[in-house]
Amino acid sequence: MTTDPEVFGKVDSGVANTNILWHGGRLLALEEGHQPFGMDPKTLESIGYQDFGGKVTAHPKEDPVSKDLVFFGYADAPTPFSPNISYGVMGADGVLKRRDTFEAPYCSMIHDFMVTGGHVLFPVLPLSGSMERAMKGLPPFAWEPEKPALVGVMARDAAVDTIRWFQTDACYVFHVMNAWDEDGKIVADVMKYAVAPLFPLADGSRGQQAGAYLVRWTFNLNDASDVIKEEPLDDLAGEFPRYDERFTFKANRHGWYSTQTAKPGDIRTNGLSHIDLTSRKRTDWVSNDGDAVSEPVFVPRSADTAEGDGWIVAVQYVAREARSDFVVFDAQAMDKGPLARAKMPRRVPLGFHGNWVGA
Ligand SMILES: [Fe+2]
Repeated sequence: MTTDPEVFGKVDSGVANTNILWHGGRLLALEEGHQPFGMDPKTLESIGYQDFGGKVTAHPKEDPVSKDLVFFGYADAPTPFSPNISYGVMGADGVLKRRDTFEAPYCSMIHDFMVTGGHVLFPVLPLSGSMERAMKGLPPFAWEPEKPALVGVMARDAAVDTIRWFQTDACYVFHVMNAWDEDGKIVADVMKYAVAPLFPLADGSRGQQAGAYLVRWTFNLNDASDVIKEEPLDDLAGEFPRYDERFTFKANRHGWYSTQTAKPGDIRTNGLSHIDLTSRKRTDWVSNDGDAVSEPVFVPRSADTAEGDGWIVAVQYVAREARSDFVVFDAQAMDKGPLARAKMPRRVPLGFHGNWVGA
């Protein structure tokens, strides 16, 4: 175990298992505790860690106009579980444009964040990290709902000492669908848990498990109140929200996510849904009992087709055959089930994220 105190910090614990990204001609495998790991895009040969000046989130956002990669790192320098967050921008030419560090109110596990054309938002939610706790043999990361639930907002080109902290009730967010600026407000659609899943309470006891639900957060920059406005968008538990990425930083109408129809809060997702955020109509597909379904990745039919016109691709674990299929859906008719299946001779281990890069 690379987290064993005997070897912690002395051996490379990187597994680069969380996300895969194509940026500026580089194929990068990402995991939030390390720098991005470069791979040869044709042979998948390892190239090695790429220098981003420190740890990088597995969820950086590429600006669709400048092609800059906007990212953060957390629980990083100078010591593990420090409350410091660093904000960085990597140019498409591979040259680091900025990396600035600020101190958050406490150390939180920050899996994903929000970026818009003008702003960057850092969630500091009460899934806290503590070296002191870890040294006592208690959980390094734990659900501490008595700590404030905060989101730090700053202009993308501003200094890190300009961050304004908004607040909400105790909750946790692993994944953001999309975020955009809208008339002095920032809108972000996120998968919100009332209780952080997978992690224990600070005393090591097991917490309550619940599912995540899609909600819309609005941050009014012209209002004196620092409270995040929240609106539920849907009532089916799920994870891995995605959208038509040609609408990055714009109000998107269509979204897709993996669903948990059998057991909300189960780490395995067993279905895929499309949600029309204008009509609020949802279209569902559910796999067979025992199967598991990956994140839905949207592929547009062509570069200039309408928003949401295209396919959803995913990996389905087919339990009764102990195999996996690569499945392709009509993105606007998820309830019809897969249009095509590429049958694989073996099981693909359950993973986290995937992305499509057209030839
Ligand atoms: Fe993730």
